[in-house]
Amino acid sequence: MTDPEEHVRNLAAEALAGANPTGWFERLYAEADAGDAVVPWDRGSPHRLLVRWTQNKRLHGEGKRALVVGCGLGEDAEFVSAFGYDTFAFDVSATAIRNARERFPSTKVRYRTADLLDPPDNWPGSFDLVVESLTVQSLPDSLRDSAIGQVSEMVGPGGTLVVIAAVWEERAEPEPGPPWPLTKAEVEAFATGSLRAATIEEVVDAGPPETHRWLAEFHRPRKRN
Ligand SMILES: C[S@@+](CC[C@H](N)C(=O)[O-])C[C@H]1O[C@@H](n2cnc3c(N)ncnc32)[C@H](O)[C@@H]1O
Repeated sequence: MTDPEEHVRNLAAEALAGANPTGWFERLYAEADAGDAVVPWDRGSPHRLLVRWTQNKRLHGEGKRALVVGCGLGEDAEFVSAFGYDTFAFDVSATAIRNARERFPSTKVRYRTADLLDPPDNWPGSFDLVVESLTVQSLPDSLRDSAIGQVSEMVGPGGTLVVIAAVWEERAEPEPGPPWPLTKAEVEAFATGSLRAATIEEVVDAGPPETHRWLAEFHRPRKRN
């Protein structure tokens, strides 16, 4: 089997050449479902930095709604749901969503297939917690502004957004993606409208592989300015 990261880059390159930049996700998940490929980000556990973010936070999700963007196989969504949030989780890949439901048969998470770039009308402004882990970095430059804007829009009054993404040092030579890491300015760009950055940290994610990542938290005031 080809190296999983290289396979992802090949699939993405074909999809980009065919002007269908998100089409490769479904192909990859379907191949993995058939046992013909590996999903490189399938850790079988929630993201380490999401776990770290929740530590010392005393999260109480009862009576609140959470949204997990590009949820893949559901590990982060299940983790968030365990804090009591009414948790919605979506992915552009129908196979990923089917596999997430199969992986967690007694889940309380509301999984659905949806496109971040064209989300359901009743989602913007309706979540108390939004988790964006590694999805924006998997989209090419041409879609980035729109993807960042859509993620931010989901956060309701008094809500919080958590962003996890690989760091692109602005002076570094761009590498063939995906992933296409984010610059600090791109992370700051999540602060649109009344959404404000609370913390933007560059942290070492022990991996493997060891990676520098942004771990950022944003808040929307209860009353819009
Ligand atoms: C690199 S994976 C990260 C998965 C998961 N968030 C994690 O941290 O392990 C990116 C995920 O975003 C999904 N995705 C990509 N573009 C999307 C879009 N436009 N709308 C919804 N999901 C999308 C992919 O199918 C994939 O599951």
